[in-house]
Amino acid sequence: MKRWTAVDIKKMKGDKPWAMLTAYDALSASWVEAAGLPAVLVGDSLGMTSLGYESTLPVTMDEMVHHTAAVARGVERALVIADMPFMSYQSSMECGLANAGRFLKDAGADAVKVEGGSIRADLIEALVENGIPVLAHIGLTPQSVKELGGYRVQGTNSAAAQRIMDDAMAVEQAGAFAVVLECIPAELSAQITKALSIPTVGIGAGSSCDAQVLVISDVLGLSRKPVPSFVKPFAQLAPQIEEALATFKAAVEGGDFPDENQSY
Ligand code: KIV
Repeated sequence: MKRWTAVDIKKMKGDKPWAMLTAYDALSASWVEAAGLPAVLVGDSLGMTSLGYESTLPVTMDEMVHHTAAVARGVERALVIADMPFMSYQSSMECGLANAGRFLKDAGADAVKVEGGSIRADLIEALVENGIPVLAHIGLTPQSVKELGGYRVQGTNSAAAQRIMDDAMAVEQAGAFAVVLECIPAELSAQITKALSIPTVGIGAGSSCDAQVLVISDVLGLSRKPVPSFVKPFAQLAPQIEEALATFKAAVEGGDFPDENQSY
């Protein structure tokens, strides 16, 4: 079967809902692909899920390239989308183009994700014109958490909702192949999904979006840390993993592992 492209994803507008997940290494990417998802996002949530940071702000280009390359090695069909980390594109167009290019050239990504709406329209246009497909990201943009004053639902009054609608129009016009809508009221995302001709990918944005994306460790219950209220864990693996590891420890300490079956 052929590899998914950004063009295929764009064509899924208005089809039945589809799912996307994050992954951060070849192993988790292989699970996403085995589950049949068309796209895998190497989110800068990497910072919190895997690198032990408090937010996405410290994540660097080198870290993202390293993990994106691992994800790309873990899939054969899924579209690999690399998240552009904080300050890898904000300072200038040249900086954004060069860093996005690194993801395709050095890490094997198929597309990049950029946070921001109207303010990023010129960058998105330049990336697309230079052959780099872009997934836009509007609503709650975690790289702006300090300016937003926290991880809060966005677009809750009519002026703010209109700004998000304008952002959605701007990124579509600029050539994004799809747009992530994060933490906005379900009614607003329904209006945006209806108004756009590109797919909307919701996270905390209700059920009307064309697609849904979640962080893989939240979906699998891999951490004991609290998850945002928009997350539904589809498994609770942390206790099972901890139990398996404790059983291994006890088996070693009790002299039960290895036995003759695991010995040469
Ligand atoms: O960094 C991330 O994982 C994301 C998504 C969950 C949209 O931006």
